[in-house]
Amino acid sequence: MSEPDEMGLTSEAALGYEQCFVPAIFDQWPPRLIEAAGIAAGHKVLEVGCGTGVLAREVIKRVGPDGGVTGLDVSESMLGVARGICPDVDFRQGNAMDLPFEDESFDAVIASFMLMFVPEPELAVREMWRVLRPGGRLVIAVWEALDQNPVYAGLVDIATRQIDDAAGSSLAWPFALGKDGRLAQICRSAGVGDVDISAHEGRARFPSLDGFVRTEIQSWVLADSVDEDCLEAVVGNAQEKFADYCDAAGAIDFALNAVFVRSKKD
Ligand SMILES: C[S@@+](CC[C@H](N)C(=O)[O-])C[C@H]1O[C@@H](n2cnc3c(N)ncnc32)[C@H](O)[C@@H]1O
Repeated sequence: MSEPDEMGLTSEAALGYEQCFVPAIFDQWPPRLIEAAGIAAGHKVLEVGCGTGVLAREVIKRVGPDGGVTGLDVSESMLGVARGICPDVDFRQGNAMDLPFEDESFDAVIASFMLMFVPEPELAVREMWRVLRPGGRLVIAVWEALDQNPVYAGLVDIATRQIDDAAGSSLAWPFALGKDGRLAQICRSAGVGDVDISAHEGRARFPSLDGFVRTEIQSWVLADSVDEDCLEAVVGNAQEKFADYCDAAGAIDFALNAVFVRSKKD
């Protein structure tokens, strides 16, 4: 097992993200985000919080040889996987709250499913807006609130009952900015003009319900606080609660909805 990076992620965890979560959840979003950001041939694009690069490697196809894509992430483990898959993107380590780029240096800036993890999201959005050139587009995607994402809401409920409040809160964390126009408020406070907010339906498909539940619990909740008996109880509860979302082979398929904020800089 490799050493954890400053996000606490090992190379193995980053590879697990690419192999499990990217096909289950993330790889349906790049075409929609590319469309929302109006990305075209020749554009210079920044993706903030690029993870293992699922979006950046689609953007590079769209911008073509006259354009360019920079993918920035705080996690060296995620970037290691990203570089291995797509060497054409300029993947760089850095923090969204202090972008290492000149003012107005990109035609589009995109942040997909990352802002909820940033300690000061307003500061990060201010930075994204700063590096965007006039006429360019900013697009930020986050998950809708838990009341629009019932399977994750159910999992939070099970984890809270079977483990503890902290476990439930950890699982709820990625959905925090989808609530009550929170993302739009952050963008307005960060000085983003003409904030357009829209809801988008997506799906999650995991080949096994058990695998989904175990991976979520072990990724988000400190693994040491959950012993095998407790994990078995969580899985058992999930099998009952989510039976309607599963097929005969044990795969689970459910709605997983997102919110986009979009703005064009004057
Ligand atoms: C759920 S992943 C999303 C990755 C990618 N955008 C995707 O759609 O697959 C969130 C990513 O945000 C990154 N991240 C979290 N906080 C960050 C920060 N302050 N600056 C840059 N990246 C950050 C994490 O390292 C992680 O790779």
